[in-house]
Amino acid sequence: MSFLVLHQVSKGFGPPEARREVLRGVDLSVKQGEIVAIVGYSGAGKSTLLHLVSGLLKPDAGSVSLGGRVIEGPGTDRGVVFQNYSLLPWMTVAENIRLAVDSVFPDWSETRRSEQVDRYIHLVNLTHARDRRPSELSGGMRQRVSVARALAMDPQILLLDEPLGALDALTRGTLQDEISGICRASGKTVVLITNDPDEGILMADRIIPLSAGPGAILGPSFPVALDPTRDRRALNHDPRFKALRAEVVAWLLGPGARPAISVSRKLILPDLEPEDLEIPRPLIGGRRRSRRRSEERRETVDLTP
Ligand SMILES: Nc1ncnc2c1ncn2[C@@H]1O[C@H](COP(=O)(O)OP(=O)(O)OP(=O)(O)O)[C@@H](O)[C@H]1O
Ligand SMILES: [Mg+2]
Repeated sequence: MSFLVLHQVSKGFGPPEARREVLRGVDLSVKQGEIVAIVGYSGAGKSTLLHLVSGLLKPDAGSVSLGGRVIEGPGTDRGVVFQNYSLLPWMTVAENIRLAVDSVFPDWSETRRSEQVDRYIHLVNLTHARDRRPSELSGGMRQRVSVARALAMDPQILLLDEPLGALDALTRGTLQDEISGICRASGKTVVLITNDPDEGILMADRIIPLSAGPGAILGPSFPVALDPTRDRRALNHDPRFKALRAEVVAWLLGPGARPAISVSRKLILPDLEPEDLEIPRPLIGGRRRSRRRSEERRETVDLTP
């Protein structure tokens, strides 16, 4: 039984006369507890797709439903980790998470809410930084706060929009392991957006490529038949991992690639007549004239003694 269902979803931007269609007829089904990665080019429409699920955008056509109910707007049943961290800069780590917890669990006691905040700060290894503001944190730390904030709201589904996109390769690798470990342990349904096929395969149960667009569509769904406790060093030599990556990349470069724009134009070539090299150059004033007029030009050279 599918938990998240997108049925023939289309979405575009701009006025009706100049509408740019970003997504066209997208179908997606995600089961409860499943981690699905959507991988695609920059600008393809990945964030647009995610925001249709978060409820920040509405589809032009088709429907998006969660647990059998059509999504009409944002809700606390969906925890979103935005591409740009989106933490409140004047609040500390603990306060940022606390704000989310307060909004979702207003009936909980003060102690219980504080415990919830501390639990998730601990989960993402930021206890030492709980009283720092976002400006005092590294990119990776900020991203962990975003993950902790989303999880602390105990959502039904976690929507991660390129959570590691802005990080260096080493931090990215460590956080991939950390976040996928947290996601698996929580048993939550997760939609992970990424532009890196390796990251998608490493972190998800299923990976689906999104075509380049405009009018992007989802490609075939590739199940990741690898051991859930994936060791990145071992994976690099795993033939199943390599084969899967090759398949996903082949789809993105083939059927999923941006269609080539071909322009047919009539070219009028200059009317040049080839020069007959056999004809001797004329002698003018005792000097041979150049064959081509264009080779002749007058230059004044300043000779300083
Ligand atoms: N609110 C908006 N108004 C107009 N155009 C938009 C809006 N949001 C997105 N777009 C356009 O839709 C297209 C897809 O944008 P989107 O942010 O979904 O891409 P993306 O796949 O998430 O890219 P990236 O990997 O760079 O984050 C882009 O051409 C973008 O300019
Ligand atoms: Mg995006």
